Amino acid sequence: MTTISPVPVAEELQSRYVWESPIRLAHWMMALSIPVLLATGFFIAWPYASVQGEATGSFLMGRIRQIHFISGYVLLSAFLIRLYWFFAGNNYARSGFPFFWHVSWWRELAGQAWEYLTIRITQRFVGHNQLGALSYLIFIAGMGGAEIATGFAMYSETNPGGFWSKIFGWVIPLCGGSYQVHQWHHYFAWGILLFIGIHVYIVVLDSIYLDNGMVGSIFTGRKYVRRSDVDSDTWIS
Ligand code: HEM
Ligand code: HEM
Repeated sequence: MTTISPVPVAEELQSRYVWESPIRLAHWMMALSIPVLLATGFFIAWPYASVQGEATGSFLMGRIRQIHFISGYVLLSAFLIRLYWFFAGNNYARSGFPFFWHVSWWRELAGQAWEYLTIRITQRFVGHNQLGALSYLIFIAGMGGAEIATGFAMYSETNPGGFWSKIFGWVIPLCGGSYQVHQWHHYFAWGILLFIGIHVYIVVLDSIYLDNGMVGSIFTGRKYVRRSDVDSDTWIS
């Protein structure tokens, strides 16, 4: 008679609430506003559609810019929510924090990079792994933050001395002039587009290889974890 051996206790999957609602809210505000910003931004750069007939009857570019600016406000709001929740949220809101000054952090980063390059993904994390968190730091906090600063700096040019000019006006002399601000805004847009491709590919890959419900977790907040998973129950270690 064949017996079916039970799943070892350490391997049992448990559902755990990881991403709190402000994290998910900020995520989807970013994930919805950024594609709109990319599409409208590239239209501003290359107005590939032109309208037929008399220009006074159309407001195409004006409407595209308006959608770009509204999405810009959505992105800024998402950033503020996420920044606040970095301090107010559970430890998963700070997981994967880049401890550049720890040798072990670099070692773990290199190990994860190798796993993803060779598509042999084995390490399970309850929160973000180091590689994911580093990509959020560079592409979202870094380039996304730079998009907000350069975007609102350009936006402020129509109202010199106004609110946005007081907050972000300094970006224009820092970049060396308005033209350069446009250029940086344009380059970072490409960086963010690159991030989206890699990010979506990796979360789907993780979901399949690690069987941790990764994709669903950003909707429900819950992941399937094992006892052996690396937990982020301490922040500064
Ligand atoms: C413009 C598109 C997107 C952007 C800018 C984006 C950005 C981000 C950021 C910044 C995080 C870190 C979350 C945090 O700690 O606050 C994150 C995590 C995550 N995102 Fe996205 N995301 C995008 C699209 C998507 C899509 C389409 C999916 C689903 C297929 C997805 C699934 C996830 C998952 C599962 C996590 C958690 C992964 C982890 O443990 O690091 N994202 N995303
Ligand atoms: C992920 C975020 C964003 C992306 C990908 C993005 C993308 C772009 C791109 C590609 C351009 C054309 C640049 C050029 O070639 O001159 C542009 C222009 C612009 N964006 Fe953004 N943008 C983002 C966020 C923002 C934000 C937060 C604001 C703030 C309101 C903003 C305001 C502007 C303004 C004022 C322009 C210039 C319009 C003009 O030339 O008159 N952008 N954006």
